[in-house]
Amino acid sequence: MRIGFIGAGKVGFTLGKYFSKHGKEITGYYSRNTASAEEAAEFTDSRAFDNMGELIENSDVLFLTVPDGSITDVYRQVAQCPIRGKLICHCSGALSARLAFPDIKETGAYGYSVHPLFAVSSKYSAYEELADVFFAVEGDEERIGDIEGLMKSVWLRYQRIDGENKIGYHCAAAIASNLMVGLIKESVDILGRCGFSPEDAVSALGPLVRGNVQHVLEDGLESSLTGPLERGDIGTIVKHLDSFDAENEEKVHGADEGVFTREEEKQLYKLLSKKILPVAQAKHPERSYEEIKKLLNE
Ligand SMILES: NC(=O)c1ccc[n+]([C@@H]2O[C@H](COP(=O)([O-])OP(=O)(O)OC[C@H]3O[C@@H](n4cnc5c(N)ncnc54)[C@H](OP(=O)(O)O)[C@@H]3O)[C@@H](O)[C@H]2O)c1
Repeated sequence: MRIGFIGAGKVGFTLGKYFSKHGKEITGYYSRNTASAEEAAEFTDSRAFDNMGELIENSDVLFLTVPDGSITDVYRQVAQCPIRGKLICHCSGALSARLAFPDIKETGAYGYSVHPLFAVSSKYSAYEELADVFFAVEGDEERIGDIEGLMKSVWLRYQRIDGENKIGYHCAAAIASNLMVGLIKESVDILGRCGFSPEDAVSALGPLVRGNVQHVLEDGLESSLTGPLERGDIGTIVKHLDSFDAENEEKVHGADEGVFTREEEKQLYKLLSKKILPVAQAKHPERSYEEIKKLLNE
């Protein structure tokens, strides 16, 4: 399978380098700016094309590694060329292949999304970390085996998902990465009320957050869960909840737009506590968490 890339950016560089290092034939790159294609070609020991049609003609698999907002536009240009039998992939987390490549069936090509669950920040070094990355793969059933074969042949881990679930999958990724920042910000705000500067708060939370995430990733949710809820310490949970009861509903840290009221903070605490209740129960099947459950539902 000869693999070509349209879009010589972070993901194009990274996938191309990884594939070529693992013995795949990289046709080369076409990009908006020829200089980017030339840089990627040099990095991956492949070829820079200044003509999209020529790259397409010489590739069996095409990765459209352009920003999400340009994928469909670029696909429409690709579809002007003969692409019958070719596998057309994009790497967006939020878009399904069906949405990104409208009417692809009519061209005789096959559409896929192949999304790395990973933040690619460096064009030149991210390929070294790709072996640990999980990909979500979905698209046309007819040739999906070829995409899976490609992933297996270079030892990339992947999960097949349904295109209908693509946005849910992307939402899950945002919760574990972007919204984790929100969760830490909430903790930083509360520490701010205890006298910490924002910088000291982040620094103070470092060992706790790092250790906890590492424990979850290495040993699983149940094994890593500690704290008052896991211990069944209802007295401490009551005190935590009471601490949110302010006399008035003023916004925390002034009246900034988007900052929680104390009641909202309490609801956040309750919601996340409810989420870990079954984890605690699975860890300690002999314990009853009924009282805590009742408190969280009040
Ligand atoms: N970065 C990540 O962490 C990450 C992670 C997972 C998935 N993804 C997905 O991977 C895809 C690419 O993202 P990226 O981070 O690699 O973006 P990027 O670094 O901005 O690179 C995109 C490249 O596409 C080229 N491009 C833009 N419009 C084009 C057009 N109309 N025709 C041809 N080339 C065009 C640009 O080329 P020039 O340099 O020539 O202007 C740019 O280098 C997106 O779908 C994104 O959602 C990204």
